[in-house]
Amino acid sequence: MDPFKINFFKLRFTAFCLLSLVTFRVFAQGKGGREKGLKDYYKSFFPIGAAVTPFQLEDPAQRALILKHFNSLTAENVMKMGPVHPEENRYDWAGADAIVSFAQKNNLRVRGHTLCWHNQVPDWMFKNRDGSRVSKEMLLERLKEHIYAVVGRYKGKIYAWDVVNEAISDNPKEFLRNSLWYQICGEDFIVKAFEFAHDADPKALLFYNDYNTESPEKRERVYLLLKKLKDAKVPLDGVGLQGHWSIKNPSQEMLISSIDRFASLGLIVQVTELDVSVYPDGDLGKNSAKTGQPGFTRELQELQADQYGKLFSIFRNKRGKLNGVTFWNLSDRYSWLDNFPVKGRKNYPLLFDRELQPKKAYWKVVQF
Ligand code: GLA
Repeated sequence: MDPFKINFFKLRFTAFCLLSLVTFRVFAQGKGGREKGLKDYYKSFFPIGAAVTPFQLEDPAQRALILKHFNSLTAENVMKMGPVHPEENRYDWAGADAIVSFAQKNNLRVRGHTLCWHNQVPDWMFKNRDGSRVSKEMLLERLKEHIYAVVGRYKGKIYAWDVVNEAISDNPKEFLRNSLWYQICGEDFIVKAFEFAHDADPKALLFYNDYNTESPEKRERVYLLLKKLKDAKVPLDGVGLQGHWSIKNPSQEMLISSIDRFASLGLIVQVTELDVSVYPDGDLGKNSAKTGQPGFTRELQELQADQYGKLFSIFRNKRGKLNGVTFWNLSDRYSWLDNFPVKGRKNYPLLFDRELQPKKAYWKVVQF
């Protein structure tokens, strides 16, 4: 055997190993040698957000996860009307302040959520002192006072607000949801909410936010509402597709059509509450609730990774029309889907597992 040939082979092999190592490190690290997070992979596309609770910001591990992977925050609950404005003359700012000041300190954006919704709204809002129902004038006055207070407090610190949430009815035969807002004010509460928010912070981007926006039937009702608002010159900048999806829904075609349809109105599109349930329609995870078994099989992991991969490939292709993606919470350690629509089941809808480690779906989303 020729010793020179053996050395040459070894040399090539070593060079190959070194090159692979360097390539991998360059791929996995951002500037300054720090390991890249989700937000770094998407730096030239759009901000990547997460909904959080103030409690999560106090936990060092979850705080580190946020800072590594996300550059935008949304309050999961504490900016909603009920929690932040529990009584007519009392606001509870503690939670919202904590999130905004954490974001400011760490240079993260904040999306505000939400100013006018039929859920998590305190009873007093719709009642006079004697318990009777308030007039339209009084309700709009209270809405104005609320929006001025909340948007005003964080003026310049919250770059976008979900002004009105879920105003379209679940019943395809109706247009707007028959909420107390609608019963008392008719459609005007929507227009007014946007005008008040714009007065309170003229620079904030103002969104209408809703779910099932990919279902063609609901999409068209949302489109109609947004078109009416645009035609009436209401200060509306964008539409939030909540993105509470599953391993089977939506189809790529449905999602693409929705983004294009809303963008055709000159609106920005953001995905505001993304999670991918492992329980597709018709399988609500009852077994997982009964047995307490984790149930996140290898097959489900693959299907979820595949779905996340497809969704993000569409998001990237729609860059420009779509300018933000926010996940509805941080990791599978906690998600609202553990209790909805089946109480006590376990779901696995996010990119990080219960130990806060990246899942298969994460790698699908960052390798492109
Ligand atoms: C809706 C709301 C969110 C949140 C989720 C479920 O999508 O917009 O604020 O409450 O439901 O947690």
